[in-house]
Amino acid sequence: MSRTIPCATTIAEIRATLGQSRDRGATVGLVPTMGALHEGHLSLIRAARAENDVVVVSIFVNPTQFGPNEDLKHYPRDLAGDRALSAEAGADVIFNPPEEEMYPGTFSTWVEVEGLTDGLCGRSRPGHFRGMCTVVTKLFNICQPDRAYFGEKDAQQLAVIARMARNLDMAVQIVPCPTVREPDGLAMSSRNARLAPEQRAQAPALYEALNAARVLVGAGQRSTAVLDRAMRSILAEASLGEIDYLEIVGADDLVPVPTIAGECLIAMAVRFGPVRLIDNIRVQG
Ligand code: PAF
Repeated sequence: MSRTIPCATTIAEIRATLGQSRDRGATVGLVPTMGALHEGHLSLIRAARAENDVVVVSIFVNPTQFGPNEDLKHYPRDLAGDRALSAEAGADVIFNPPEEEMYPGTFSTWVEVEGLTDGLCGRSRPGHFRGMCTVVTKLFNICQPDRAYFGEKDAQQLAVIARMARNLDMAVQIVPCPTVREPDGLAMSSRNARLAPEQRAQAPALYEALNAARVLVGAGQRSTAVLDRAMRSILAEASLGEIDYLEIVGADDLVPVPTIAGECLIAMAVRFGPVRLIDNIRVQG
């Protein structure tokens, strides 16, 4: 039987719990999530377990990072399951605040990272990164972690949070963790569960296309136009998914590049009906 871990629902409660730990010199690792935990999240929790004395997993489906036509209403929720999985992966405490606790009626303060949020997901999800940065800042202020863990699958999110933490002198180390994939290559995501069986069968095309680009770069191809064409043709052949974006950008500034030089990120978002999947790889020129 898995052990039961406490679940704080108020800011005062989680502050008191983590404050007591910090008072005795313990380090705190934070894994921010929106729940519906899968192996990807569990890998973040395990990484946090290995590096900190206390591991807190926040579970909060943050309404301010969803656009009006996005899937907030359908976002999967399973607190009991998430609590058990978090405990198994080594977490010590859950923070699961209700919406009013995080966004009381008087709420009117936002955190915005400019530039880095203009392209990629930022283009098709206006306001998403403002909501995400605001809630992550709040979670950092509430939990005051020594380290916070984020997956590389959300490459732009990771870059934006790292920039925000640097720019605002937040005393937290941002720890990137590798993307966890299904055996067929599909990057794990809470949204995968919403794919219809035929969409699920086509979804590994994203990673197939990224891998084809990796092979071309390995063979010396540096033209991003050539890589772009090759990936689009794989996606068109292997899936009915609609490309939201497919871009090759500098890994640090996320600005599109004409040739692969230095570290670059190849990133894409593809829609299968209402489900939007993202994936990326890094390549070196
Ligand atoms: O990656 C996520 O699940 C969310 O964007 C995060 C970081 C938990 C903020 O709500």
